[in-house]
Amino acid sequence: MTVSKQGSRTETDLVPGYDGRRVRDAIRDNVWIHFTQMAPYRDPEHRSLVLVRGEGSTVWDDEGKPYLDLLAGIYSVNAGYGRRRIAEAMMAQLELLPFVNPFGYTSVPAAVLADRLGDLAPLGGEARVFFTSGGSESVESALKLAKQYQTTRGFPHRWKTISRRVAYHGTTMGALSVNGLTGARAPFGPLVPGARHAPMSHRYRCRYRTTRCAPARPRRPSSSPGS
Ligand SMILES: Cc1ncc(COP(=O)(O)O)c(C=O)c1O
Repeated sequence: MTVSKQGSRTETDLVPGYDGRRVRDAIRDNVWIHFTQMAPYRDPEHRSLVLVRGEGSTVWDDEGKPYLDLLAGIYSVNAGYGRRRIAEAMMAQLELLPFVNPFGYTSVPAAVLADRLGDLAPLGGEARVFFTSGGSESVESALKLAKQYQTTRGFPHRWKTISRRVAYHGTTMGALSVNGLTGARAPFGPLVPGARHAPMSHRYRCRYRTTRCAPARPRRPSSSPGS
């Protein structure tokens, strides 16, 4: 067994059959990492971080070096890495029925989860759960639901949205349009129309500081379309 600089186990101990060179070649030549400039990866000397294992809130790279993952993936591994019960439940469902076409059908686990989420949601038993595969798709779906709701009620011009500056909402076109990060939106215009952005509620972060971030005074209701 070889020992890494950190004195811990090496890549071959962590992942049987792991071929670090092949993985790094693939990253250099073929992988496009999100939110990342890939140019430095072309340098043969570039040492990319390859995570190979996780347990609890710790992940390990392919040299056996541990890292504390304080973001829980990106808020998607909240129950922690290496949870056997989750892996077994996923495996059992994969063997039983790996996919149900969501256009007109649902699955038993989805129905059970919707029921449990309904108990937790403020609407309680009335809550209906619309399953998506990620955050951007959730924001996209919420925007569409809100517009459809207003149209159905007879207000098809109520299409404006207001979101906070700096707030992140995802990468798809609708989610990007309501994104408060100007730099992230800028290269992708024209965006979905109707997105408006309001200053941060936190006085320290508000660019108007004390003047315009004072507690809001009641305003007269507006009757203009889109308001
Ligand atoms: C508040 C919020 N909305 C939307 C998203 C986008 O989620 P996803 O990366 O799953 O598309 C994120 C991701 O970090 C988020 O933090």
